[in-house]
Amino acid sequence: MTKTALITGASSGIGKVFAQHLAAKNYDLFITARRSDLLENLANEIREKHKVKVTPLVIDLITVEGRDTLFSETEGKGHQIDLLVNNAGFGYAGSFLKQTRESIIQMIELNVTAVTDITHFFAKKMTERKHGEMIIVSSVAAFQAIPYFSVYTATKAYDKFLAQSLYHELQKHNVHVLTLCPGKTSTEFAKIASMSEQKFDRNSMSCDIVVRGCLKALKKKKWQYVPGIKNRFIIGVQTFFSQKFVSKVAGGVVRKDQQET
Ligand SMILES: NC(=O)c1ccc[n+]([C@@H]2O[C@H](COP(=O)([O-])OP(=O)(O)OC[C@H]3O[C@@H](n4cnc5c(N)ncnc54)[C@H](OP(=O)(O)O)[C@@H]3O)[C@@H](O)[C@H]2O)c1
Repeated sequence: MTKTALITGASSGIGKVFAQHLAAKNYDLFITARRSDLLENLANEIREKHKVKVTPLVIDLITVEGRDTLFSETEGKGHQIDLLVNNAGFGYAGSFLKQTRESIIQMIELNVTAVTDITHFFAKKMTERKHGEMIIVSSVAAFQAIPYFSVYTATKAYDKFLAQSLYHELQKHNVHVLTLCPGKTSTEFAKIASMSEQKFDRNSMSCDIVVRGCLKALKKKKWQYVPGIKNRFIIGVQTFFSQKFVSKVAGGVVRKDQQET
């Protein structure tokens, strides 16, 4: 039977590439984001190339109404989601003091509140059916506090802890939860984060490699996937140092990637 995947934040970057890879594996898709033109283009491209069903949902996930629409248009209409890719997210880099109240609240609403609400809704459906898979997109930023990326890092640590707790909690219901922790990846992320795209992209991974590796890890029922040997090495090595020191060094690296001085 054909499986159905729901991918949030599919208009660009990692989410878009998840949609392309899952369609190639014959999944029918629900894809969401706010930019309708990009979603429609992607839906048409995928339908033509892979002959699967693609339903674009133009939704702002920060709003409760947006998330209600997501639920009513999918499970509410009898479409069972077999795989949820909880991917939509963004970060603002820079001094905590210089960030606006609005930007801080939006980051928390999308990366924490929306991720939790969506995960909770689909976890209940999947556990009732005793079948399902979820990928929650965290970050390598979740492995240490990062000055000048403070709120984003805290939201991604939340995502990691949520996903890893649920890995154990939902296992007995035959629902598998994988935490994806990408390092720098070439997407629109750096531009939105106010980082220098040039510096960021210099040592970024491609979305293709990130997604391909993640889907392999999902198949092997891993609980966490960190793409790239370099990222895994850094995460491993930093356990030998104090968290205070690691956090200071990480803040210095982020500062270098920022446009502001
Ligand atoms: N790129 C990296 O280096 C990196 C590293 C670690 C983790 N990550 C994580 O990877 C995930 C994907 O990011 P990306 O790098 O692929 O960045 P991206 O290219 O900016 O993609 C972000 C996606 O989220 C959607 N989105 C943003 N705000 C939204 C909202 N309010 N409602 C609905 N959708 C919204 C965007 O679509 P619209 O703008 O059309 O709504 C877009 O499709 C994020 O969770 C990010 O934290 C990225």
